[in-house]
Amino acid sequence: MSDILVIKELHAGYGEGDILKGIDITLPAGRVVTIIGPNGSGKSTLLKTLAGLLLARRGDIVLKEQSLRDLSPPRRVRAGLSYVPQEYNIFRNLTVLENLKIAREFMADRKMRGGTAISDELIELFPELPGKFKARAGNLSGGQRQMLAFACALTVHPEVLMLDEPSAGLSPKYMTDIFDTVKKVNARGVSVLMVEQNAIEALRISDTCVVMANGHVRLTALANQVLEMKDLHSLYLGDAKEEAVAS
Ligand SMILES: Nc1ncnc2c1ncn2[C@@H]1O[C@H](COP(=O)(O)OP(=O)(O)O)[C@@H](O)[C@H]1O
Ligand SMILES: [Mg+2]
Repeated sequence: MSDILVIKELHAGYGEGDILKGIDITLPAGRVVTIIGPNGSGKSTLLKTLAGLLLARRGDIVLKEQSLRDLSPPRRVRAGLSYVPQEYNIFRNLTVLENLKIAREFMADRKMRGGTAISDELIELFPELPGKFKARAGNLSGGQRQMLAFACALTVHPEVLMLDEPSAGLSPKYMTDIFDTVKKVNARGVSVLMVEQNAIEALRISDTCVVMANGHVRLTALANQVLEMKDLHSLYLGDAKEEAVAS
């Protein structure tokens, strides 16, 4: 199997000193890789660096054998890499439809722009959205806003989708819906790199688990092996999650 995204020895940070201290992660085409790890370990910093919002100080990011290092964020999107940030991922004062159109207008390349922002495929994945097209995005529930952000990232037909804690703060129903939707998108051929705190639920739909701590990759393993590791549960997932596994 070929690797669609290869992160090599990546270093990045905000001020003096690196937050990412040499990250190596490989995303095989068609797979779901989930990154877990304690708060502050650099997971969001990694996705920001991949998206091009933060400079890679050392190392490389290779998408389909093309280095993204010197590409602007929009060019990375056009190269096939789409990103849903953890926060501020929609325009709350615009309607749902305006959000979808803007995502596509700004991010898609010229040949895509003529098409519709709302494909049948998108409606199939997000059946709640059409009824909300005219609603202000700020008036949606947290779960609906997260679905909208997710849909915006898909309007440009990415080959790799990056999601930063898509289930954070959501009700159990929306958490299940979000992970079901990730799985469906993946089944349509989109490779996924996801950061999650709800590790058990996320790993159930993942192929590979990467554990990050303090700017390093601490472990890379098959997701279902990690789900069985008791010591990892207590180390990285917390006791409450361990109960969830036992039940
Ligand atoms: N915009 C920023 N400016 C300066 N430091 C930041 C910024 N964002 C995050 N950091 C720092 O980078 C480290 C990693 O943060 P982050 O990548 O958000 O971790 P995680 O997503 O794993 O919780 C933390 O020490 C955090 O304080
Ligand atoms: Mg984060």
